[in-house]
Amino acid sequence: MTATIALSRPEEDIALLTLDMPEKGANVLSSHVLTELEKHLDTLEAESERALAGLIICSGKPGTFIAGADLREFVASLDVDRQEIVDLCRRGRTLFQRLAALPAVTIAAIDGICVGGGAELAIWCDRRILSDSPRTQFGFPEVKLGLFPGWGGTVRTPRIVGLYNAVELITSGDSIGATASVEMGLATEAVAVDDLYDAAIRLIRAEDQSKQYLKDRIHWSEPIVMSETETGFLGVTASGFIQQKTRGHYPAPLAALEVLLEGSGSDIDAAGELESEQMANLFGSPVNRSLLNVFFLTDRNKKDSGLAADDVPATKINSVGVIGSGIMGQGIAAANVKRELPVVITDTCEDALRCGVQGILDEVSYNRELKGPDAKRAVHFASLLTAATHDVDLAKCDLVIEAVVERADVKKDVFARLEDQLADDAILATNTSTIPISELGADLAHPDRFLGIHFFNPVRKMPLVEIIRGKETSDRAIATAVAYAKHIKKSPIVVQDGPGFLVNRLLLPYMSEAVELLLEGATPKAIDRAATSFGMPMGPIHLYDVVGLDVAAHAGGIMLEAFPDRAIASPLVSDLVAAGRLGQKSGCGFYSYNNKKRKPEVDQELLPFVAARRKEERDITEEEITDRLLLPMLLEATRVLDDGIVEDVQNVDLGLIFGIGFPPFRGGLLFWADTLGAKTILEKLKPYEALGVRYKPTDRLLDMARTDGTFYDNR
Ligand code: NAI
Repeated sequence: MTATIALSRPEEDIALLTLDMPEKGANVLSSHVLTELEKHLDTLEAESERALAGLIICSGKPGTFIAGADLREFVASLDVDRQEIVDLCRRGRTLFQRLAALPAVTIAAIDGICVGGGAELAIWCDRRILSDSPRTQFGFPEVKLGLFPGWGGTVRTPRIVGLYNAVELITSGDSIGATASVEMGLATEAVAVDDLYDAAIRLIRAEDQSKQYLKDRIHWSEPIVMSETETGFLGVTASGFIQQKTRGHYPAPLAALEVLLEGSGSDIDAAGELESEQMANLFGSPVNRSLLNVFFLTDRNKKDSGLAADDVPATKINSVGVIGSGIMGQGIAAANVKRELPVVITDTCEDALRCGVQGILDEVSYNRELKGPDAKRAVHFASLLTAATHDVDLAKCDLVIEAVVERADVKKDVFARLEDQLADDAILATNTSTIPISELGADLAHPDRFLGIHFFNPVRKMPLVEIIRGKETSDRAIATAVAYAKHIKKSPIVVQDGPGFLVNRLLLPYMSEAVELLLEGATPKAIDRAATSFGMPMGPIHLYDVVGLDVAAHAGGIMLEAFPDRAIASPLVSDLVAAGRLGQKSGCGFYSYNNKKRKPEVDQELLPFVAARRKEERDITEEEITDRLLLPMLLEATRVLDDGIVEDVQNVDLGLIFGIGFPPFRGGLLFWADTLGAKTILEKLKPYEALGVRYKPTDRLLDMARTDGTFYDNR
């Protein structure tokens, strides 16, 4: 195997370890790389303090230091026994402790991403110098994989930056930039990339004189001095915050907090052993496996061009037109402007346009640090936005996305008006949520450059974009749309045309089943509670109100027409729409929203509407509610796969996680189904057979049960 770490002597008394993983875009810490490091440490430990003034560790890859541990090795070890995990953790930690005890000052010179195992290696150095590039990020994202730093990161970090900072860094999993790292005391200084090496040399010379690092080493090996009251206060506030954020679904941040607090009072060896033992409880757990799956789904998506052949050239999009400045038009325009793409937004209604522009500027000028609008940002982004009630400025856009009302006739009119004005290679897209692309593009002179680019609401929060291929859509248009969506930091998946495409086709059975449950005796709160206990960000009844009952009724109608054998008519929803109960936007729907925060409140005035359509009156358990909501969605997913709407199971799972917030700790709908197994799913379906085709096992599921197959095996 080719070497990853090169040991050199740029100066007589300076050692330099350069990590450069052959044929990889980023360095990761595999067991092979750790073995190399072990060998280099053998060499360096043999040096005398006089011969070696300092060691610098750097990356040979500009813009990435180390992107973490090798997760493919993690996956290969998921089923090993507990002791093996403890030993693996111990191996990494012991190695880094050897690094920390070398007979010379050790300095990590970091440019670019330094996370996970890479951050642990760096934290065990005496000092860290960071490049001031915006690419430089330091963090411990392990909790996002259901773990915590297991190579001594929980031991060393609080001793370097203090327990408060370490708790925040490690339990949040969020990375920080160079300036914040210096402020926290994690890095000595932030310098220009070109000065990184020289700054490290300067620091070595200074430390060699002062020997401050040796005093620090003694200090860092001892327990952290903090009063019981202070530790207790930190424990209570941090665990309250974590519980509120994770809703009990993600055990790693709390486990990390416990290890940090308990380990802080011990010497480093005892704290390290505690970390390794506790890590073994998380490694290979269902949540860890699910989150690893989500990581691989996301990683694959980043590399996916959306086409079988990767050589179809994408046209670079330099300007975007958005037609319709309603909820979606605003969100889409803001997403583009934030990525520095000039946008022309149009609307036939002047008031709507005015409101739209205000909405866009409010969003793009928001400054997280100020927790409010930032005039500088507003001025900068406003210069990228042109608003008009006519089409003239749209003609010069490379991409035009239509987001007008969900009516085929209105949309077709817009396209007919616009098509002749566009440049030959411009792309024309629709944000329709339900109308087939081939139908909308049927009258176009150039249907090859027409496709669906379907964003999700709210655009700023939902990463998914469905790229929908009509019958005539060209590969160039698909490749361009995929590259464009990635450019504005979205996660595109290519889906074939069809009613509801992918996500809405799966979401609607889940929503209409909620209305059925309501009519059988479950309360809105009980239904929503079952969904959120499963991990959904919002229950389906609440979701109706947020989406708008009129919008949901319209989409439901389309699904009913497309799939009459299994879609359910929901006359209750139509009754509520007729009564003006449209959901949050009208002040009431299933719930009422007559409070400042527009939170859903139980509304007695709903009862007569439910009573008029009531089917049964019985007690329904939470388990039944959960099964009833999820099983029709799962069966529809098997049909989506059979119909070839998406390429594979991973895209179903990614689509639901990024489009509707399906709980990541379940790994995705089909990943979750695999954890149950096809036979169990068939058992779960049995009690509902009488409800018709929507609960009838599909051939794919029956086959899987017969062959002990899983969705992920058959992908
Ligand atoms: P909206 O009703 O908030 O906005 C539509 C805007 O289009 C209005 O401002 C209206 O004045 C304008 N408009 C109507 N006819 C026009 C025309 N001929 N030319 C220019 N502007 C015109 O609608 P919303 O919710 O933004 O939806 C827009 C599209 O996005 C629809 O196709 C919808 O299905 C789709 N969509 C909606 C989602 C949602 O959650 N609201 C999610 C994903 C897609």
